[in-house]
Amino acid sequence: MTWTHTFNSSPDADLKGALRKDFHWGYATAAAQVEGAWNKDGKGESIWDKLCHTPGKVKDGSTNEDAARSYDLYKEDVALMKSYGVNAYRFSLAWSRIIPLGGADDPINERGVQYYNELIDELLANNITPFVTLFHWDTPQALEDRYGGMLNQEKYTPDFLRYARVCFERFGGRVKHWITYNEPGVYTLAGYAAGVHAPGRSSFRDRNEEGDSSTEPFIVAHTELVSHAKAVKIYREEFKPTQKGVIGITLHGNYSEPWDVNDPKDVAAAERARQFEIAWFADPIYGSGDYPQCMRDQLGDRLPTFTEEESTLVKGSSDFYGMNTYTTFFVKHLNEPADINDHKGNVEKLDTNSEGKSRGPESDTYWLRTAPEGFGKLLRWVWNRYHVPIYMTENGTTAKGETAPTEDVLNDTFRIDFYNGYVRELAQAVQDGVDIRSYFGWTFTDNWEWAAGYTDRFGVTYVDFDTPEKKRYPKRSAYFLRDYFKHLIAED
Ligand code: NOJ
Repeated sequence: MTWTHTFNSSPDADLKGALRKDFHWGYATAAAQVEGAWNKDGKGESIWDKLCHTPGKVKDGSTNEDAARSYDLYKEDVALMKSYGVNAYRFSLAWSRIIPLGGADDPINERGVQYYNELIDELLANNITPFVTLFHWDTPQALEDRYGGMLNQEKYTPDFLRYARVCFERFGGRVKHWITYNEPGVYTLAGYAAGVHAPGRSSFRDRNEEGDSSTEPFIVAHTELVSHAKAVKIYREEFKPTQKGVIGITLHGNYSEPWDVNDPKDVAAAERARQFEIAWFADPIYGSGDYPQCMRDQLGDRLPTFTEEESTLVKGSSDFYGMNTYTTFFVKHLNEPADINDHKGNVEKLDTNSEGKSRGPESDTYWLRTAPEGFGKLLRWVWNRYHVPIYMTENGTTAKGETAPTEDVLNDTFRIDFYNGYVRELAQAVQDGVDIRSYFGWTFTDNWEWAAGYTDRFGVTYVDFDTPEKKRYPKRSAYFLRDYFKHLIAED
């Protein structure tokens, strides 16, 4: 049975045709989470390949060696996506599949290039627009070994730029939507502050042998910002005139609500939390060209400074605001001075507010709860602060107790409620004048959720990871979103 959904009653009925005719919608994925084929056809090792082969680093002890096998199954996947009604697909390129050792003078792996060529061609043949992310956390391990990866801005940047250039040259004739970095903030915070993601560095010696959580996250973030801007400059000067695409960055950011709305200290704390999380990257790119003042006040010279040249380069270096967001937290001020390893703005993040109100129903992921209202506020906060078109590049949820379906379609009502709430907020924000041009659900199939392994299922397609063929079963939310976007996107 294929499910269909109708939207005859308010508020959904009032939103018919609210989204622009050329609105892009579909699903997002990342190479390391779905491709598998981790060392096939010449692919080099990435920092995630290394981390997941180190005992004790991944919750269920799994590796991403096979993941969802989308490297082998891409044709079936594109066909399934097509049946879900999408008109766009956001995926990332594995740097070490294209340049196995990663460096500016290292050889290109033609078989890796060929895989992405075939995937792009298959998408276009099905009228699905590719949105391509250059970097979704999988730094080539060789660059980490040679000079410490992004900790070494001087050595890293030319390597990244050469990789970017190869991608523009090989794929830019067909790819018109580029994203340089995915969630640079999570890459640096989880990898260098908490030390639970690759490359696994922090100040906590029970967890990591090396690292400094009080400085490295800010150094790595600076490298990401500057190398992003340099890649964009290359694209704009050398490729855009003929290829005519757009290029930008995707930032993470959940919404922060004051714990006690009547306490000015909590109101200030919530704003500070938004700035530490979002404006850290967004102000340099879309705003002042510098880090927010509240970060400078708390971090002093542990926060790098932009040279004048860097600041000019970074400011305006994104054609759009790529937004990944999932949830909302209640934020309470702290009275003690900030801890040396704090990166949140000296606040506490809580599940309930001063009146005992919960931030939303629990998913199967500890940090994630359904909170559509906060999403609506976040869209307006970003729009009012930066005034650039927003591309929603990720949003989605896990659901408790999801097991292999007994029927062909898994009826995931929890996920449907999530998507209904969030996409409705998006359409309402558009009606209020916020310029939003895409929506990508996270994610197409269940996949390898980094250090959580296969335990967190974010897909609109169930994957039976126990079978070698990684059998796919649609979830009902896939059909819900197909029908909802058909209702929301204006017709010609
Ligand atoms: C954001 C990341 O970009 C993606 O890789 C991850 O799987 C989702 N959030 C869910 O945690």
